[in-house]
Amino acid sequence: MNAPLKNDLYLRALNRETVERTPVWVMRQAGRYLPEYKRVRAQAGNFMNLCSNPELACEVTLQPIDRFNLDAAILFSDILTIPDAMGLELTFETGEGPKFGKPIKSRADVEALPIPDPNDSLQYVMDAVSTIRRELNGRVPLIGFSGSPWTLATYMVEGGGSKDFSKVKGLMFSDPHTMHALLDKNAQAVVSYLNAQVEAGAQALMVFDTWGGVLSPTNYQEFSLRYMQQIVEGVTREADGRKVPITLFTKSGGQWLDLMAKTGCDGLGVDWTIDLADARKRAGDSVALQGNLDPSVLYGSPESIHAEVKKVLDSYGDAPGHVFNLGHGIHQFVNPEHLGVMVEAVRELSTRP
Ligand code: CP3
Repeated sequence: MNAPLKNDLYLRALNRETVERTPVWVMRQAGRYLPEYKRVRAQAGNFMNLCSNPELACEVTLQPIDRFNLDAAILFSDILTIPDAMGLELTFETGEGPKFGKPIKSRADVEALPIPDPNDSLQYVMDAVSTIRRELNGRVPLIGFSGSPWTLATYMVEGGGSKDFSKVKGLMFSDPHTMHALLDKNAQAVVSYLNAQVEAGAQALMVFDTWGGVLSPTNYQEFSLRYMQQIVEGVTREADGRKVPITLFTKSGGQWLDLMAKTGCDGLGVDWTIDLADARKRAGDSVALQGNLDPSVLYGSPESIHAEVKKVLDSYGDAPGHVFNLGHGIHQFVNPEHLGVMVEAVRELSTRP
């Protein structure tokens, strides 16, 4: 049996309940800006070794919780575990980002793709989830996650990161049928992967659609949002008698928050290119919002960090349903003490009498 939750601010805020103070966590909170992370990463040898070792993955997941007392933990893993389990042969070269040895090139490649059984080739992720949940011992909730079908497809077709998305967009425009077949497979794989994470102990879910914002409005709906909708409809929404909230985050997706809210998700991630007051107007009252401090604010002085945190809290206002976060992942060259300043500012400025 897992311990009862001692701090459930994050879950209550996503449920749009009134909370004593605004909960805070940070995308990429376990990562290279932390010297203790770099030590464990060096011990593991490479990034995938770190992800596939449940004890080490657990250790780095807890590092930012221990250091900053954040209000949620996020599974240490990567969105690209799914295509790796599909046989695309993922590697991370130092300083180069992800690469696939066998990217998707044709309709036949899509047809041959297996939908991985999460309790087989992705069992290492489930072991990490259950280990982390046990070691958290009820301190804060554990967030499980995946990439969106579209964002996964960009890496699968480009063979790694991309600046112009020429291959994946080329496929989307010239052969939409194949593109949809790929996205549908990805969506099925994501649903069973997220459900297995909930089964293993994840208490909330997040879908990262890092590249949805490179699409036109109609293509965003057809090639990204539609498949996130399939995920919202397919995932487990309750476990151990408690709601398992799901948050969708499309980077550069501020203009589509109304459409995203209609999927029936619980929370929306918001980047820093839209004011939270506008974001609330667009999203409506059915969802909570997560965000949205510009990650580069952490390069500034402690005084400027304090002032920028205040702006974000003020722009959201007094209504319930805010989870404080950066608008995207923390940069690797940020001074960790500056994140401490941010977290303290959120605590101080958002505490309600
Ligand atoms: O947030 C957390 O602390 C949990 C762990 C997490 C990682 N990646 C660890 C990681 C999460 C939630 C992700 C998600 C992820 N991975 C996304 C979506 C979110 C986003 O940032 O937009 C994407 C697009 C990826 C794919 C990915 N993984 C890339 C492009 C890279 C290389 C770029 C980089 O930052 O170096 C990774 C590697 C990666 N994933 C690292 C970490 C801590 C750095 C690897 C290292 O330690 O060498």
